Amino acid sequence: MKKILITGGAGFIGSHLVRLFVKKYPAYHVYNLDKLTYAGNLENLKDIENAPNYTFVKGDIVDTEFVLQLFKQEQFDDVIHLAAESHVDRSIYSPMDFIYTNIIGTANLLNAARSAWEHNYDEHRFYHISTDEVYGSLGETGYFTEKTPYSPHSPYSASKASSDHLVRAYHDTFGMNNVISNCSNNYGPNQFPEKLIPLCINNILHNKPLPVYGTGKNIRDWLYVEDHAKAIDVIFHKGLSGQTYNIGGNNEWTNIDIVKKLIEIMDEELGRPQGTSLSLITYVKDRAGHDLRYAIDASKLKNELGWEPSIKFTEGFRLTVKWYLNNQQWLQNVTSGAYQKYYEQMYTQH
Ligand code: NAD
Ligand code: DAU
Repeated sequence: MKKILITGGAGFIGSHLVRLFVKKYPAYHVYNLDKLTYAGNLENLKDIENAPNYTFVKGDIVDTEFVLQLFKQEQFDDVIHLAAESHVDRSIYSPMDFIYTNIIGTANLLNAARSAWEHNYDEHRFYHISTDEVYGSLGETGYFTEKTPYSPHSPYSASKASSDHLVRAYHDTFGMNNVISNCSNNYGPNQFPEKLIPLCINNILHNKPLPVYGTGKNIRDWLYVEDHAKAIDVIFHKGLSGQTYNIGGNNEWTNIDIVKKLIEIMDEELGRPQGTSLSLITYVKDRAGHDLRYAIDASKLKNELGWEPSIKFTEGFRLTVKWYLNNQQWLQNVTSGAYQKYYEQMYTQH
């Protein structure tokens, strides 16, 4: 049985990937290594927690000795690395958490994999999951390709850029079988409600203001999370060593249009007269260093490995809203305690 280490598997994207691998590949044993920060939630994996080919390991990738020991003990065949601090706003308030986890944590995993696999790198894949934010910001036209120079603007994106460089350097220098993908904004079930879409769903539900940063004209390219997990599956199995693949939804929206679309669907689902929740829209101070536009050219992934998004935005959006409405206990659990303190700090100062 192949032993696959997935880091950050209790988070939003990680939990969808763990589920996909556990169900689709009974011949793989999936190890989910997660620190369970505020963003990590084992409730996300309730349906597969007792699967015979799944093991959860609680641990911190910043802890060098722990990571080395784990690799020695478990002899993993491959790594898919998602664990990260992932929220841009938090990186503005506490950059060091991002620098430790995203940079040092990635370096620890690379070093442990290097010592475990140094005699046969070709047989072992190290796959690093990254973001389109490393490319910086686009103007009104153009797309990020795999050749776009890096130009990160937030501590989050700078820490991800740094980890990407390390992964590439370990391939170029030591010959490790490394691959990277850079994906656009994900949405879907289980996303922590600090991010735009679940935050708005939660606030519409509770008739709270919907904070729109700046003009609301910033643009993001949205991809349904299960499509991202499927792209990771394809790249993990078919991607070429040393290559980078961009993943995107081909689905650009201004933030204000996304918020209005959410209001339309939520008002309908909640049985409120259409437009009721429009009055919740509240323009607030812009995010510092706010990137104007992200848009991915994912043609390399389509042409070379045959992946394309399968879920249309209207369908994915509706599925997402319904998931949150049907899982209000999940929302309540993650928005109590520390979340409320974060929310007050983040949104009362605007
Ligand atoms: P998330 O914040 O929902 O989950 C991150 C997970 O990592 C959590 O389970 C957390 O407990 C774990 N973690 C954090 N620090 C850790 C540490 N020191 N040791 C072990 N585990 C730790 O993030 P997400 O949105 O699912 O993103 C997953 C990955 O995908 C990240 O690397 C992110 O940069 C990347 N990504 C995210 C998006 C997006 O739209 N969410 C888009 C492109 C790329
Ligand atoms: O592009 C990929 C990235 O997408 C990932 O690497 C990150 O991990 C992920 O968090 C996401 O980053 P963004 O900053 O784009 O996502 P967020 O949901 O925080 O914000 C989306 C847009 O909405 C952005 O332009 C900021 C704006 N926004 C966000 C929040 C939380 C608001 O206007 N109001 C808000 O309250």
